Amino acid sequence: MKLIIHGDLGRYYLQTLCLLFFPGAKFSESEEITASTPVVTVKLTTDDEGAQAEATVCIGERSVTRSHREPYTDLPKKKTENMAASKAFFDAAKKFFGYTPSWGIMTGVRPTKIVLDYLNSGMTKEQTVKALRNDYLVYHKKATLATDIARNESKIIKKYPLDTCSVYISIPFCPTRCSYCSFVSFTTKKLLALIPAYLESLKLELSMIKRQIEESGFKLKTIYIGGGTPTTLSESQLEDLLSYIDKLFDTSSLDEFTLEAGRPDTISAKKLESAKNHNVTRISINPQTLNNFVLREIDRHHTAEMFFKAYEMAQKSGIPCINTDLIIGLPTDDFDSYSYTLDKIIELDPQNITAHTFCVKRSADILKEEGLQIYSRENKENYEISKCVDYTQIMTKKAGYLPYYMYRQKNAVGNFENVGFCKKGTEGIYNILMMEEIHSIFAAGAGAVTKFVGERNVKIERIFNPKYPYEYLEQDRQLAFEHTKKVMEQFFAQNQ
Ligand SMILES: C[S@@+](CC[C@H](N)C(=O)[O-])C[C@H]1O[C@@H](n2cnc3c(N)ncnc32)[C@H](O)[C@@H]1O
Ligand code: SF4
Repeated sequence: MKLIIHGDLGRYYLQTLCLLFFPGAKFSESEEITASTPVVTVKLTTDDEGAQAEATVCIGERSVTRSHREPYTDLPKKKTENMAASKAFFDAAKKFFGYTPSWGIMTGVRPTKIVLDYLNSGMTKEQTVKALRNDYLVYHKKATLATDIARNESKIIKKYPLDTCSVYISIPFCPTRCSYCSFVSFTTKKLLALIPAYLESLKLELSMIKRQIEESGFKLKTIYIGGGTPTTLSESQLEDLLSYIDKLFDTSSLDEFTLEAGRPDTISAKKLESAKNHNVTRISINPQTLNNFVLREIDRHHTAEMFFKAYEMAQKSGIPCINTDLIIGLPTDDFDSYSYTLDKIIELDPQNITAHTFCVKRSADILKEEGLQIYSRENKENYEISKCVDYTQIMTKKAGYLPYYMYRQKNAVGNFENVGFCKKGTEGIYNILMMEEIHSIFAAGAGAVTKFVGERNVKIERIFNPKYPYEYLEQDRQLAFEHTKKVMEQFFAQNQ
């Protein structure tokens, strides 16, 4: 598509807004305009009192133009000008498509972060909801959801001052690749053969992290083993890794120890027994959907029956918190099938349910298989997906779940959100701490990102581990450790 800008406006910011209505669009400066090329034109003019924007959305002979004026206030002028442009564009696109995205013009920023800023400035719940509606054109129900989540989060956040920390352990391997997945995960025989060497390197890195945590006086509060699918490891590999972690860190004193197992076809009673014996307190057993046809469509190599069996094993293992991940809007899924899935999951009564909205990222196989048309189905199906999202809110609330954390992703169908729901007192603590950037996270393994947090998430420093297991194996652990240590010392010297 083509984006034409007149005036001093950020191109990247406007492109992100365009994606709300043109999911997956590629922007080209040089593209020749044909009858099917979407063209968005935004003009900005300013005077002493405010910013005036005019936006036109046009495809072929059809076009809609809208304008918006935003007076200057005590906000930075740039912000006011962006707001004028985005509101003019939003109005024009809304009219053009006959569809209003429920998160309004809020893009590229976590809703709960904005809410926490509002609440911390002394605003009440009602004032915060109102501000989200006025400033970002967010629907009332979404503004309320974000505000409720942020208020719940603040109770947990208070318990984690800056001298606390978490450890993230990356196992970027899966038995096979699901077609919608964009996570870094390796499935080929050649890469899976690296697992034994990978685990040795990981253990070495963890021992260095342990030293770093001790030397710098951090109090370790949560550990999260994520993926990929950590239960891709064999029973003996998993036992070996968990017992190493258990000996290294005092796992019995942690507030939370998560094993994001995930795929039901990788779960066994023995793996769950190891997890329980080594103080894992939270585990994910993920169906995504309980519709076998949809599971086949998305190349997920298990059935609903395998999920129920794995779930029963997890319950018997005695691990206190079980999470189940679902995805709303999977290809070929519909409201009837999704609502059946959610009803069945609620019947099982897990402590946590995480409902994601389907999103297609550039690295997903499905995009290579189906091409950009995978995006074009989205606008048509927004209504169906919006029903699933609303159904999730209503049914989880009825069953006694609270929404406890939330994030949004670019290119999610209908621009909807991902929400974690929990039974009271079973919040996935790491999820909140990580998403809201509350404290430092020491991360081990390929693709892992260590994050140092100072001054309540104003200052953040990230250190990226190599993305691929073979690059990670080639890295000199001692040198990498010394680098992390140096960055950490400099960071905290400047940000205490
Ligand atoms: C790290 S991933 C995978 C966990 C585990 N390997 C599994 O597949 O069950 C965590 C969750 O993100 C969600 N997810 C992954 N890809 C997604 C996509 N393209 N759109 C929406 N949600 C997605 C899924 O619900 C998944 O369980
Ligand atoms: S969705 Fe989970 S199991 Fe499937 S490829 Fe991605 S990380 Fe692996």
